[in-house]
Amino acid sequence: MDKKERTIFICQSCGYQSPKWLGRCPECSSWNSLVEEREKAAPVGEQWSPFLGEQAIARLYQEVEEKELRRLGTGMDEFDRVLGGGLVPGSLVLIGGEPGIGKSTLLLQTAEKLSLHGEVVLYISGEESESQIRLRGERLKLRPAKLYFLAETCLERIFEQTEKLRPTTIIIDSIQTVFSLRFQSAPGSISQVREGALQLLFFGKSRKIPIFIIGHVTKEGYIAGPRTMEHIVDTVLYFEGERHQAHRILRAVKNRFGPANELGIFEMGTRGLRPVPNPSQVLLAERSINVPGSVVISCIEGSRPLLVEVQALVSSSSYGNPRRVTIGLDYNKVSLLIAVLEKRMGLKLVGNDIYVNLAGGVSVLEPATDLGVAIAIASSFKNKAVDAHTVIFGEVGLTGEVRGISQASSRIKEAAAMGFKRCILPRSNRASSELKQKIELIGVRSLKEAMGSLF
Ligand code: TYD
Ligand code: MG
Repeated sequence: MDKKERTIFICQSCGYQSPKWLGRCPECSSWNSLVEEREKAAPVGEQWSPFLGEQAIARLYQEVEEKELRRLGTGMDEFDRVLGGGLVPGSLVLIGGEPGIGKSTLLLQTAEKLSLHGEVVLYISGEESESQIRLRGERLKLRPAKLYFLAETCLERIFEQTEKLRPTTIIIDSIQTVFSLRFQSAPGSISQVREGALQLLFFGKSRKIPIFIIGHVTKEGYIAGPRTMEHIVDTVLYFEGERHQAHRILRAVKNRFGPANELGIFEMGTRGLRPVPNPSQVLLAERSINVPGSVVISCIEGSRPLLVEVQALVSSSSYGNPRRVTIGLDYNKVSLLIAVLEKRMGLKLVGNDIYVNLAGGVSVLEPATDLGVAIAIASSFKNKAVDAHTVIFGEVGLTGEVRGISQASSRIKEAAAMGFKRCILPRSNRASSELKQKIELIGVRSLKEAMGSLF
């Protein structure tokens, strides 16, 4: 073996490194996840020299220009908002999602829009041939200007091509197919994925061009996945949704240039993805009216209020150990609410299976959902429907008290805009709201009061 070569074992699920093979990763406890990878160590200078720009000089605080970041519009406002108001030059954006969710479609449409705004876009695909991409483009009826394709997976050759072409935006589809000659491990392995992301980061930063990276995520465990790249890139977006449903959710989980948790909602149609201007409407479209267990809550995702339906089903359990299932909500929080309902409200929930679901495939982890979730469970248990024109939000504490939450007025505003007539909210938030004329506001101090006004 070459002296400069080093063999290491890397956990493919979390990136833990070990000089010897282990059956179980001590970091993330997954079994059989360590894989031998060989690295050809290059001298540090040689390794990074292609990316070194001019030497930076220390500068006095007062002398630093306060430049507003110039942002590029992607031509889709939903996408721009998730990015924090457009694309920042030099930023590295990771778009993760399951295969088939629509990542390539989204970026091909974006590439067209960017090219029409004068950008030179290079779409590098290791997954599909140029003609396959062209075929998709025809289906989408794209008429791009300077949009180039490159079917290449070797990182060094990709950089060679970009030196010739000098694109102003680069798209990599996908990072799992890209490999560097510096490593002997297969494309898609942790060291290749990480190396690819790092080199692209330096390349984009030194040339001040934005780079999109597509990364596949699988449902079970994120194999050599985008998870290991999250701390390298500037922005991490996840594209989520059920493949058999039309709408897709683009969620920012990390963003150095904007708020995290921002949501964008798209609809997949026969001609690609279309931004959905009114997400609350889509999320509530298939709601069942006047059915016990259904409650509409008003939550804040990123910078925007969103109305979502909580569905609860309480049914008697045929086993000794009742099942508790939550989808889109925090399991521990729901367990806590169940305990509060039992102890403070006297509901006999023991011996019942309880399922709680946030409809539409969204997931929300904010305390403002508590009251709606508790009411939904109570509604299903009592078999009494909650009035369909009522929106509920508020945090519930262990004594059954209802606590105030942030941004109450934008939640109420969204409810009023969607035609709801009544809003049950924390008493302390009611005092501060100025929207009393449009919608009836019922301020409550406890879960008991909320239940009293509903059932
Ligand atoms: P794709 O972008 O290839 O997904 P990914 O890159 O995330 O793997 O999307 C593939 C799916 O989208 C496929 O099931 C077909 C569907 N689709 C449409 O419904 N309409 C369209 O216009 C296009 C281009 C794709
Ligand atoms: Mg694809």
